[in-house]
Amino acid sequence: MLGNFEYSNPTKLYFGEDSLCSLNKELPKYGKTVQLIYGGGSIKKNGIYDQVMELLKANGKIVIEDGGVMPNPTVEKLREGVQIARQNHVDFLLAVGGGSCCDYAKAVSVSVHCAEDPWEKYYIRFEEPDCEIVPVGCVLTMVGTGSEMNGGAVITNHDQKLKIGHVFGDQVIPKFAILNPKFTFTLPRQQMTAGIYDIFNHICEQYFSGEDDNTSDYISEALMKSVIHSSRIAIRNPEDYEARSNIMWAATWALNTLVSRGKSTDWMVHMFGQSVGAYTDATHGMTLSAVSLPYYRYIMPYGLDKFRRFAVNVWEVDAGGKSDEQIAEEGLSCMEGWMKELGLVMNLGELGATEEMLGGIADGTLIMEGGYKVLTRDEVLNILKASL
Ligand code: NZQ
Ligand code: ZN
Repeated sequence: MLGNFEYSNPTKLYFGEDSLCSLNKELPKYGKTVQLIYGGGSIKKNGIYDQVMELLKANGKIVIEDGGVMPNPTVEKLREGVQIARQNHVDFLLAVGGGSCCDYAKAVSVSVHCAEDPWEKYYIRFEEPDCEIVPVGCVLTMVGTGSEMNGGAVITNHDQKLKIGHVFGDQVIPKFAILNPKFTFTLPRQQMTAGIYDIFNHICEQYFSGEDDNTSDYISEALMKSVIHSSRIAIRNPEDYEARSNIMWAATWALNTLVSRGKSTDWMVHMFGQSVGAYTDATHGMTLSAVSLPYYRYIMPYGLDKFRRFAVNVWEVDAGGKSDEQIAEEGLSCMEGWMKELGLVMNLGELGATEEMLGGIADGTLIMEGGYKVLTRDEVLNILKASL
């Protein structure tokens, strides 16, 4: 049975090869001064920066540049972005990049007019914004997080060894997002595959929970099959437009809250991944791939029916003459094979994590209660050890 739920998603999407010119429709809706948010320079190398600048100028905007947003944006960078926005009385935040730029833009948006320290208010006390919010738009260049159509904003505090996500509401979700699959062609292979696994894991986090017959789970299975199929094409030919466009679209639907409606969700792999990220600053998708199999193998007995269903419906495992445990394990073995095909990081050691760090990583791992097994701190530590 589907539980009761609310659903709304206010982001207007523009998808396709010509979608950037939709800025001409969107920019006139907002004020004159635009804070242009971007990362370490990929958009300058691949020409996206020039195209965006031209459209901003053509729309009469005053552009305040805010580059240098790092992967896994830090609280120090957030404070810097807030200062830039305040000093220039910015009316609109335009993020051009991946999840890091989009998340950062959302974190700035709720902090510009906030009288308190944003880290304490939003990331430690998890309070909701009660100030004016500066609107955000996104031009996506890296696929994976779904940040273009959700309220998530993950910020890292290295001093406190914490990487924390706050999921903000409708007022903070990007007003629009521009998705041109061609913009992702220049991604380094490692980023492409990390993004692909991030998508897949977002779906897993919402699928491995609950026991009801639920439409959301059927949608999840279809999305997973599409990601597996397209990823195999994209790793052979990164410029296959069809594959890259399917991956881009699946990423958006994997985390725009649709597939979690009416059911519980797990999110433990992400909690592990975020704590690993706080210690290693590693690529988000790889922090997930490194812990996934030890975690899923550990919780499999507690959610055996769903793991069996995953094996049969997603990996097309032949169930004939096998026990449920064997079928479920075969599904995870298929997943492991696919992860290795993609060349994902399969253990924490490769990300720079050490035995000495594991206690701290375990302490920084928030324990969620929506999955098949609520872990104890000892179980968290054991899964981390098995992932090392
Ligand atoms: O900084 P530049 O030079 O632009 O390079 C970036 C960066 O190094 C590069 N890149 C992006 N587009 C490119 C490109 N390089 C060449 N060509 C292009 N077209 O890719 C690198 C990674 O970018 P980043 O934005 O960091 O990656 P991603 O999209 O994976 O975002 C990661 C952040 O999002 C958070 C993660 O925790 C992490 O902080 N997440 C946000 C979520 C949300 N909002 O719901 C959910 C996710 O689970 C995730 O936690
Ligand atoms: Zn993720």
